[in-house]
Amino acid sequence: MTSSAANTAPQKKAILHYNGKVIDLPILQGSCGPEVLDIRNLYNETGLFTFDPGFTATASCESKITFIDGEEGVLLYRGYHIQELAEHSNFMEVAYLLLYGDLPTEAQRGDFIRNVTTHTMVHEQITSFFRGFRRDAHPMAIMVGVVGALSAFYHDSLDINDPVQREIASYRLVAKIPTLAAMAYKYSLGQPFIFPLNKLSYAENFLHMMFAVPCEEYHVNPILSRAIDRIFILHADHEQNASTSTVRLAGSSGANPFACIASGIAALWGPAHGGANEAVLNMLAEIEYPGNIQKFIAKAKDKNDPFRLMGFGHRVYKNYDPRATIMRETCYDVLKELNIKDNPLFDLAMELEHIAMNDEYFIERKLYPNVDFYSGIIFKALGIPVSMFTVLFAIARTVGWVAQWKEMIADPTQKIGRPRQLYTGIESRKYKPVSERK
Ligand code: SDX
Repeated sequence: MTSSAANTAPQKKAILHYNGKVIDLPILQGSCGPEVLDIRNLYNETGLFTFDPGFTATASCESKITFIDGEEGVLLYRGYHIQELAEHSNFMEVAYLLLYGDLPTEAQRGDFIRNVTTHTMVHEQITSFFRGFRRDAHPMAIMVGVVGALSAFYHDSLDINDPVQREIASYRLVAKIPTLAAMAYKYSLGQPFIFPLNKLSYAENFLHMMFAVPCEEYHVNPILSRAIDRIFILHADHEQNASTSTVRLAGSSGANPFACIASGIAALWGPAHGGANEAVLNMLAEIEYPGNIQKFIAKAKDKNDPFRLMGFGHRVYKNYDPRATIMRETCYDVLKELNIKDNPLFDLAMELEHIAMNDEYFIERKLYPNVDFYSGIIFKALGIPVSMFTVLFAIARTVGWVAQWKEMIADPTQKIGRPRQLYTGIESRKYKPVSERK
């Protein structure tokens, strides 16, 4: 724990002078990234809360999983650069890395894949849940419901205090999320659900369950499965983002793992977060052609207009999102490999990026394309419907949520998350009978 590590080095501290008191606030240093001011005793010593809406300057936990340097545009999973993992690794290896802390040996990888593969099916009665939804239900609405409902079926992996049950719940969540996602898509089409095929890789299996039909052979295009696998790697984890923080907060109350991941899916759905990939495509469709770009750039700059340039900006990255760079390259490769000569959407996105990157408003505010800017264009080129874009984000991020949830549960210092507030409402007053109210 950083705090214990800090015990060996001479304790750095900040000194607060308040109300005639002098309070030492320890400064803790992680292995990389900004130092943190340890304010755990601040309220006891001063009666003060800190105030940080949106937690823009607050470290909510200690973690060893993912590190982001927003100024430099660096993203590390357990110390490995995202660019190296995207180029050399695959999603199952990266899932193992996030969950267990290191890249697996051949044997460990085999065991892990076997454990995930043997949990890909869902309880047959879960299919009944789908029939309760309208066919035009948004697939994220379905995913929030059915993932939470898993806790009604897998009673032998709900006890968060039992490490064996935590392990089984982890396998079940990573394994079943693509199956449920494909079922949501099939349900929207009125087509039969396709069972997972355990001889296929994780990404191949997902594409097979999405696009196969029972009445004919389906061959997964290796270009598509490789692209999907890489996109899953890029989306797997991202330190304490909104949905991961939601999963941690839900988990801190002792909620079961399936309920926690369902809460993460709900948070991810927002267009300011994981829902941005779908919003980018809708925005590009609205812009329609390059001649309209300036009009939308002006809308994005107008404080009275709620419109934001979707796929741009980030709470942490004040440089290029390294995932966006890889995504753009992957997009270009996929279009080329699929022999899609001209893709107006991709051309429009490139033109929009070029214009925005040369506009003072975006430069000044360090608003760069983020992971969601290009992902939707690839998904569309891969034949994924727009409404499923955020679902694919949720598939990939499930392993990150699970890894963060496991880390939190295993942290001996963890306690229920309970932020305080700055109350500016009405102070104490007497009850008024209705006859006296005006
Ligand atoms: C994800 O946190 C994560 O790690 C998330 C994620 C992950 O992997 O989990 O990376 C995934 O959610 C990526 C982000 C996807 N969202 C979008 O693409 C939606 C569009 N982006 C914005 O909504 C916004 O940029 C946020 C929500 C991403 C960040 O919001 P912030 O932190 O409030 O933005 P900021 O403080 O950096 O904004 C600074 C200024 C403000 O203007 P001023 O008050 O200074 O005049 O930039 C403006 C903002 O209004 N601004 C934008 C803008 N984003 C910020 N103006 C126009 N278009 C935008 N997209």
